[in-house]
Amino acid sequence: MASDRYGVMGYPVSHSRSPVIHRLFALQTGQDIQYELLQVAPEKLETAVRQFQRTGGKGLNITVPHKTKVVKLVDTMTDRASIAGAVNTLSFREGEVLGDNTDGFGLLRDLVVNLGLTLEDSRILILGAGGATRGIVGPLLEMNPSSLLIANRTVGKADALVERFADSGPLSACRFDAVPTDEQYDLVINATSAGVQGEAPPYPIAAVSNKTFCYDLSYGLRPTPFSVWARDHGASRSVMGWGMLVEQAAESFRIWRDVRPDTAPVLKQMSITA
Ligand code: ATR
Repeated sequence: MASDRYGVMGYPVSHSRSPVIHRLFALQTGQDIQYELLQVAPEKLETAVRQFQRTGGKGLNITVPHKTKVVKLVDTMTDRASIAGAVNTLSFREGEVLGDNTDGFGLLRDLVVNLGLTLEDSRILILGAGGATRGIVGPLLEMNPSSLLIANRTVGKADALVERFADSGPLSACRFDAVPTDEQYDLVINATSAGVQGEAPPYPIAAVSNKTFCYDLSYGLRPTPFSVWARDHGASRSVMGWGMLVEQAAESFRIWRDVRPDTAPVLKQMSITA
């Protein structure tokens, strides 16, 4: 019998590590799957998803820039995907398209399980107010931090997120240059896409002290501009988002195959230190 088919759809997608990660999960758990890299331009998204489903594909990871646009192709969404307003995992079952979002779960699992952070009663600052932030605000608030501040270059976008999640916890918003200087943050998360082009925007210096754990949702083989900036400004630790990447993939794999892979050896085999 042919292997069950999965893949990741993005644009561009050639840099994606998902095929390697899912192949390692499959080897480890003895699951017989294929996992493809699918470069799909935005205007072809619907056709490509429908074709993958029609030809017997079982599931897709959806990545930049399709995570919000794919929502309209989904028949049933999980709560966490609805709250995030974005989908990164599609499952095709009996003609139905199920949409989930494992990004927030992956981040929390990396922060709490792999890195050992306590988020309850912590002060958290998120830099950026785009799609990535929208996916992580809900799960972070569920950990009962004492405060969560969203700072963004364009304050209106941060304000809109505060409005959306206002009932879920102690949230506030400000501009980058208005981050209070008299507060200390336990955790600062970079959720801007600024580092992708290798540039370092004027991140707020007030954000970092020697008690601050800095986490960049971006990752690379070399340190990202934010992780360098955080280290240079005296953060207690500065970590890139490799662990989140592997953990969100493991949660997708669990949804599809009903088996949870062990992520630690996969992080190691990719020669990455979390
Ligand atoms: P994503 O899905 O990765 O979050 P997005 O929705 O386009 O992508 O959001 C990008 C985020 O990075 C936004 O918060 C954006 O700030 P603005 O809302 O002010 O545009 C932020 N960002 C991107 N480039 C930036 C830069 N050079 N300086 C500061 N913020 C930047």
